[in-house]
Amino acid sequence: MAVTPTAELATAETFDLNTWMADRLQAVEQALSHWVVEDSPAGLGRAMRYAVLDGGKRLRPLLVLAASQSADTPNTEAAMRAACAVELIHAYSLVHDDMPCMDNDVLRRGKPTVHVAYGQAQALLAGDALQALAFELLVPEGGGVPPVLGAQLCLQLAKAAGVHGMAGGQAIDLASVGLPLTQAELERMHSLKTGALLQASVLMGAACGQVPARALAELAQYGRYLGLAFQVVDDVLDVVSDTQTLGKTAGKDANQEKPTFVSLMGLNAATDYAHHLLSMARAALDRSELPQVQALHALANLVGSRTH
Ligand code: IPE
Ligand code: IPE
Ligand code: MG
Ligand code: MG
Ligand code: MG
Repeated sequence: MAVTPTAELATAETFDLNTWMADRLQAVEQALSHWVVEDSPAGLGRAMRYAVLDGGKRLRPLLVLAASQSADTPNTEAAMRAACAVELIHAYSLVHDDMPCMDNDVLRRGKPTVHVAYGQAQALLAGDALQALAFELLVPEGGGVPPVLGAQLCLQLAKAAGVHGMAGGQAIDLASVGLPLTQAELERMHSLKTGALLQASVLMGAACGQVPARALAELAQYGRYLGLAFQVVDDVLDVVSDTQTLGKTAGKDANQEKPTFVSLMGLNAATDYAHHLLSMARAALDRSELPQVQALHALANLVGSRTH
């Protein structure tokens, strides 16, 4: 009997996201557990492991791996390192986002937040150390990642995490409490605080292999629309879901007077807008004319249908 070589060659109709995700999620969990070690001064590693392991949908690592698969001859070690590096930056951003000086949340991924479990100083330092570790992963000693690729991945991640990416978006978020932002202002805030890292996940994955320039531009569009859609859905879920399902406190955006897509345009229009953005993401993927984009398509669908 002829054996289908790999799931990567499945057609859009036969592609099964759950099967595709299962192995990759397991590999990502193992790699994260391997790289975020407990051995550390003053127990800092315990707080870091608590922040990273046992929870999280791992969408960003999955995007990295899916995008690397859409490229020719991907470097699989680099892709796994990039997948984990992005997740470490994300985990650090959540630890800080939850602190009393920011969103002051006590629940994350179904557990007490890091500052509740370990104190504010440990939470701050765990975030700092996770950020440093993310970059360390991208430039391993021993040659698993060619130096030029390692430097490129570091640059992409630094830009997405920094002042013109996640951190800048978080600054806008905190400065916007109680303010009625315009749609353009809200889109900028969401694209920076959340979209930048999601788009970087796609582009870092692509950088691990060869992608023609025109297709890369379409992947960038896919990442941009998907990233914005993800935060619009987050705004919607904060209103329509419950704390148990979310694993984080529901209803907190309105309580804290955060401008969101729901406060701007109402629940139904915000939901429709998220789906519109996701159809734009899928259209960009189609325009890329890359052959192996089933996983990226399926992940866009997942963003639209997620419940937490
Ligand atoms: C939550 O991100 C914070 C946002 C950027 C909206 P996720 O919903 O991806 O959180 P985890 O990683 O699954 O916990
Ligand atoms: C957080 O946005 C985005 C980050 C950069 C962490 P939110 O503040 O809406 O995320 P949640 O709802 O706490 O997960
Ligand atoms: Mg926040
Ligand atoms: Mg928050
Ligand atoms: Mg939120």
